Amino acid sequence: MIRRIQDADITAKRILVRVDFNAPMKSGQVSDATRLRAALPTIAYLREAGAKVILATHFGRPGGRRNPEMSLEPITALLSALIGHCVTFASDSVGEEARAAAANLSAGDVLLLENTRFHAGEEKNDPDFAARLAELADVYVNDAFSIAHRAHASTEGVARMIPAYAGLSLQREIDHVTAALESPGRPVLAVAGGAKVSTKIALLKNLVKKVDCLFVGGAMANTFLAARGHDVGASMKEAGLVETAGKIEKAAGAAGCALLLPSDVVVAKQFKPDPDHRVTGVEAVAADEMILDCGPQTVDRLAAAIAASRTLVWNGPLGAFETSPFDTATVETARYAARRCQENGLMAVAGGGDTVAALNRAGVSEDFTFVSTAGGAFLQWLEGKPLPGVDVLKA
Ligand code: 3PG
Repeated sequence: MIRRIQDADITAKRILVRVDFNAPMKSGQVSDATRLRAALPTIAYLREAGAKVILATHFGRPGGRRNPEMSLEPITALLSALIGHCVTFASDSVGEEARAAAANLSAGDVLLLENTRFHAGEEKNDPDFAARLAELADVYVNDAFSIAHRAHASTEGVARMIPAYAGLSLQREIDHVTAALESPGRPVLAVAGGAKVSTKIALLKNLVKKVDCLFVGGAMANTFLAARGHDVGASMKEAGLVETAGKIEKAAGAAGCALLLPSDVVVAKQFKPDPDHRVTGVEAVAADEMILDCGPQTVDRLAAAIAASRTLVWNGPLGAFETSPFDTATVETARYAARRCQENGLMAVAGGGDTVAALNRAGVSEDFTFVSTAGGAFLQWLEGKPLPGVDVLKA
């Protein structure tokens, strides 16, 4: 059980809230405010209770040095607009200016601290740096699931120094991911896509132990098809991992997890938008052809697997979805899953940067039961590994 913000004494207190405003930017402006919006319920909750809110976040990977291109100052105006209250900014996350700004806050005020990663102590989880953050506040709240896989000073160290609780967004993430994998309605189907088996070995090994059926799609599936003895032509595949893929398939069999792979695929000789392409069975890919998407028969099989499931966990696109027409399988499957959520009570949880982009492209993010804001943390959770930023909040 984690300690929740609802159990904290917050009135008139200074609360250090770890958010994740590591949002995509274009020309100095936030191009997708999802992560900023995710923190709004906790900020509103604290302000309504008369607390003084101090927001801490990293942005990018400045490597422990001040880098004006990774300053958080440019997001202050957008944040003020979203919160509906003027947010003040401290040009350092610790030290005299931050201390004075924190001390001057009135009930309901919001202060944004400069990028915590401008200090090397942040990523090293240096106790001295954590203590300098802790001295700014009476209570610590972590509201950033997407950074919970990092044991950094602002996500882990500081939580050991002052009373620490989970914010509303973090709670929502944990509640959904736990419901989907720890105590799910069965059968559970996992869909794993993306390019590389190498980045997802731990995830696949953990999933086959937990779910009833695992569909592997994306270029990752080519390595599994090769393990089954198929010639995948000029397709992307990780030759060094064919044996590993075979072992994962065996482990799935031993755990009673059905491993599904594409049976037909969309192939082309060139990878560019709208090239000549054809649909073929996986046993008939020519030497100069690349597999770039799942075929219609596979999409139908996957839809049948979704229809037979009560829970769906999805990470990774099924084809080269950023290039037309190789988004078809991902988009059709996402739309079908969204319909099952809305009409048949399917619980569908998705996460990971590419997955969220794919669901947005399909226009169905709102219709899934839950779409995580996290990339690496969502993967680490799917791998069954501990999340230090969550564990430190356990009562
Ligand atoms: C993310 O974008 O996944 C988080 O903000 C973590 O960022 P990091 O990978 O730089 O630690």
